Amino acid sequence: MTKSPFPEGFLWGGAVAANQCEGAYLEDGKGLSPVDVLPSVEGGRWDAVMNPTKALETKYDYYPSHESIDFYHRYKEDIALFAEMGFKSFRLSISWPRIFPNGDDATPNEAGLAFYDRVFDECAKYGIEPVVTINHFDTPVELFKNYGGWKNRKCIDFYMNFCEVIFNRYKGKVKYWMTFNEINMILHLPFFGGGMDVNGEANPEEAKYQAAHHQLVASAMATKLAHEIDPENQVGCMLAAGATYAFSCDPKDVWKAMQADREGYFFIDVQARGYYPSYSKRFFKEHNINLVMEDGDLDVLKNHTVDYVAFSYYSSRLTSADPEVMKETEGNVFATLRNPNLEASEWGWQIDPLGLRITMNAIYDRYQKPLFVVENGLGAVDTVEADGSINDDYRIDYMREHVREMGEAIEDGVDLIGYTPWGCIDLVSAGSGEMKKRYGFIYVDRDNEGKGTLNRSKKKSFDWYKKVIESNGSDLV
Ligand code: BG6
Repeated sequence: MTKSPFPEGFLWGGAVAANQCEGAYLEDGKGLSPVDVLPSVEGGRWDAVMNPTKALETKYDYYPSHESIDFYHRYKEDIALFAEMGFKSFRLSISWPRIFPNGDDATPNEAGLAFYDRVFDECAKYGIEPVVTINHFDTPVELFKNYGGWKNRKCIDFYMNFCEVIFNRYKGKVKYWMTFNEINMILHLPFFGGGMDVNGEANPEEAKYQAAHHQLVASAMATKLAHEIDPENQVGCMLAAGATYAFSCDPKDVWKAMQADREGYFFIDVQARGYYPSYSKRFFKEHNINLVMEDGDLDVLKNHTVDYVAFSYYSSRLTSADPEVMKETEGNVFATLRNPNLEASEWGWQIDPLGLRITMNAIYDRYQKPLFVVENGLGAVDTVEADGSINDDYRIDYMREHVREMGEAIEDGVDLIGYTPWGCIDLVSAGSGEMKKRYGFIYVDRDNEGKGTLNRSKKKSFDWYKKVIESNGSDLV
């Protein structure tokens, strides 16, 4: 055991999102979330994610999110298990369509609000700090159908209604907020990120950046409102991060890698610094992107930057300027070359703990605001042994090395406030709709077809993570 580099009060915890764990998809007045119209991997998940208009018209045999892991009814048991691991924080999202089923409703759904009261009260019982994502891939489907999603400026008003209701309702219960999960994902998965389908757009890039502008304005307005309602509130942005490496020392590759990173930093540059980055001008011009802005937009961005920068990190990425080389890319969301120095998960996600340290240093150098690692983890197939045990040493290895590198980054001078590994309890995968791709310290008995008792059991990593938290990150063996 060595001396811990982690500061006192470090927010160790875990992360989930409403749309991937709650189930109860129409219960107590909830409206549809984007995932609720998407099938399993066998049913053609990826095609549906990329063609949501078609997906909405299709009747699938099975929808994994409809029951999911039933957190809606089992939250007490789950939070008790998190408490047993010693969680100091729990990242979750509030389902927007559970509060405003159509997105544009005049009044909120009381039953939905009451559910999150119960969840936050349960957290408080154990001294667990909730860390709330306001929109985690959860723009109501009705806003997609009736308004075309975030490319429509009206979504700012609907989102602000939602924010006002939840900021007031949970004042004193929730202090840490994030405005949009992986805000840069709107460029890759517009249905998840922006509740929109860009397939019919004359200039899909323009539509996505227009929607992004609306979200950036909404994020700044929400930050302002959160601070007005309760000065204790801490509001963060959230980036799908992962440093991009150059395939070779050819400057063209290095330039390409820099551009790839800027694609994500673009969002955080606005949210953390308060203005559109200088490089965006040329990018917009070359892509024929003409953003429609209203008076006051640039002021609100300038005056209401975030308090902290949160991000997810699963892997680094590798890119080349040579189209021939790029023919070999893998990965559906972020195309990446295979890095010969790294191993990969069963889903091909490359494992790069040092990449986390590199990413943290790069982000901190750029923004000089506290960082929060709000997603990280290994999606893997777990085997339940005859005696019921689940020996997920591969997950422990993954986590150990990532926690170690986070510690190194802190020693490098990075101000890190917390760590909430993804899917602390097994849940439905966003990308593939699978249950088989498990991230949890807690196993949930449910398979890809929706069979299983939904019973919870502890994996070997449960006790390991408990020890990590107990020792504030100094005991990683
Ligand atoms: C992030 C998302 O992109 O990655 C989560 O914020 C998602 O919602 C996680 O679940 C892991 O991805 P996947 O596809 O394995 O669920």
